[in-house]
Amino acid sequence: MAEFTLPRNSKVQPGKHYPAAAGAKKPRTFRIYRWSPDDGRNPRVDTYEVDVANCPMVLDVLLKIKNEIDSTLTLRRSCREGICGSCAMNIDGTNTLACTHAVDDCSRGEIPIYPLPHMPVVKDLVPDLSRFYAQHASIRPWIRTQSPAPSDRERLQSPEERKQLDGLYECILCACCSTSCPSYWWNGDRYLGPAVLLQAYRWIVDSRDEDTGARLDELEDPFRLYRCHTIMNCTRTCPKGLNPAKAIAEIKKLIVERRMA
Ligand code: SF4
Ligand code: SF4
Ligand code: FES
Repeated sequence: MAEFTLPRNSKVQPGKHYPAAAGAKKPRTFRIYRWSPDDGRNPRVDTYEVDVANCPMVLDVLLKIKNEIDSTLTLRRSCREGICGSCAMNIDGTNTLACTHAVDDCSRGEIPIYPLPHMPVVKDLVPDLSRFYAQHASIRPWIRTQSPAPSDRERLQSPEERKQLDGLYECILCACCSTSCPSYWWNGDRYLGPAVLLQAYRWIVDSRDEDTGARLDELEDPFRLYRCHTIMNCTRTCPKGLNPAKAIAEIKKLIVERRMA
């Protein structure tokens, strides 16, 4: 029988343990992935017992750890309002935003916190999103026009045309959906993934855009679009309640309708 061995540096080691401070009112335990490119060591999982009495959200816990317990913990965050998308990570088994995920909603006794899955790690909870951003840039995410702009006003939309963007414009490009998608895990170099495809659809249905044909041409490809197998992980995990799987299905429908026209 064939035997397979994992690469030595892929094994996650047990890490350090930080006990709760004396007198902690509401201690909870967090198991946090740690890896640094600087020391040549394997990743490890450190365990922190934190008094969460004044930490409603997981981001509050992470900042308390960084400020009061272990300043070496590395994470991204900016807005703490679910707007910038930078605190996306895997919390309690789900890709979500640390700033909008309540500690009380974490179900496990020891809450695991890992970087977004199947991405290279820069350090600790920070994934390398370079490819993700390059894929977003590849769809040229701006209004592409051929006609000259009106000289006396903006390019206007009717309320109905504007409504077409609901459920799309709210995407904050956090990458929770793409990094939960098995097709993106295995073919992320060629499949655009749910976040970028939702963004692509956002520009396709924008009434002010005049390059729909070229946009569909660019997507009509066995890998860029058709690696989506409607597994729906993306929609289940989106912390903004959006439906990337539906956007992908709409793109496929437009391509079929175009062929039949
Ligand atoms: S669709 Fe949702 S999960 Fe995906 S990038 Fe946008 S906001 Fe994040
Ligand atoms: S529906 Fe498509 S994009 Fe969403 S998780 Fe499934 S395969 Fe990925
Ligand atoms: S810090 Fe901006 S979305 Fe969480």
